[in-house]
Amino acid sequence: MTKPKVLITNGEIMNKVLDNLREKCELIICPELPYPSRKDILNRIKGVDAVFWCTKERLDTEMLDTAGPNLKIVSTMSAGYDHIDIAAVKSRGIKIGNTSNVLNASVAEIAVALALMAGRRLQEGRQVMERGAWEPGSPIWMLGHDLYGSTVGIVGLGNIGCEIAKRLKAFEISRLLYSGHSVKPAAAELGAQFVSFDDLLKESDFIIIACPLNDGTRNMFNDTAFSKMKKNAIIVNIGRGGVIDQPALIRALESGKIYAAGLDVMVPEPLPTDHPLLKLKNCVLIPHLGSATVRTRLAMADLAARNILAALDGKEMPSPL
Ligand code: DGY
Repeated sequence: MTKPKVLITNGEIMNKVLDNLREKCELIICPELPYPSRKDILNRIKGVDAVFWCTKERLDTEMLDTAGPNLKIVSTMSAGYDHIDIAAVKSRGIKIGNTSNVLNASVAEIAVALALMAGRRLQEGRQVMERGAWEPGSPIWMLGHDLYGSTVGIVGLGNIGCEIAKRLKAFEISRLLYSGHSVKPAAAELGAQFVSFDDLLKESDFIIIACPLNDGTRNMFNDTAFSKMKKNAIIVNIGRGGVIDQPALIRALESGKIYAAGLDVMVPEPLPTDHPLLKLKNCVLIPHLGSATVRTRLAMADLAARNILAALDGKEMPSPL
């Protein structure tokens, strides 16, 4: 019996995860390092039954058309799916799954790390030492802002937002606010108060973006939003870069309209080395490391594989979209 064909869009997926798939499927692996181009993927996708999508390339109608009618399963090794045309996938009766939840703790840790790095000026501190500009004993040197006693606003109290909130409790913050579509049942136990986006902007000392990118959230942090924020506000983004209007953020950071930013996500990724964001001392940047731990990436790859295997067996995926 011929095995179903599965396209793996990145050859660096841990072997022990692929072994589970290999037993039942024929694997077509994109070997290009560090990652395949769109053309490399398009060249291999024709006729496959399933795709293990481990790339930021868009999975859109061109990809689906090139794959052809055999394609029945899409499994993305990510929680986010803004790079996938979900409507197009679903309209063709293709099953789709992601890897939500297994990365929540890792991403939440990065959110807290960025809040501390940006608030306490940790990166700048290191740079000052490298320049030999350490001013010993000055009472007003390198003053930052505590998480302790602060009001923190989380935009999007989903699964990752809740994990961030849990961790923030240990920092003895004074208030936890959140905004989004609706009141979340988990909020009461976390002591989080539902407020409008406007109130969250006006009242928060730290704002953490943990919402997905979609038509409703794209560029929601624009000049108007920044002008409502406190001067001491610190903004952290672990969602998607497109939620922030980046030129507006740069203006807000340069003019001192807000205090600092900590970004795990930005536009574009990778960010060019001459990008203005990299020139701002009050902007901490890391290269989309949210889920980048050995344990979490292994769990994500494993879940993405199980989504495919379940769908091939005609069962519900463990993490359907
Ligand atoms: C995801 O899975 O969507 C995350 O952004 C990865 O870090």
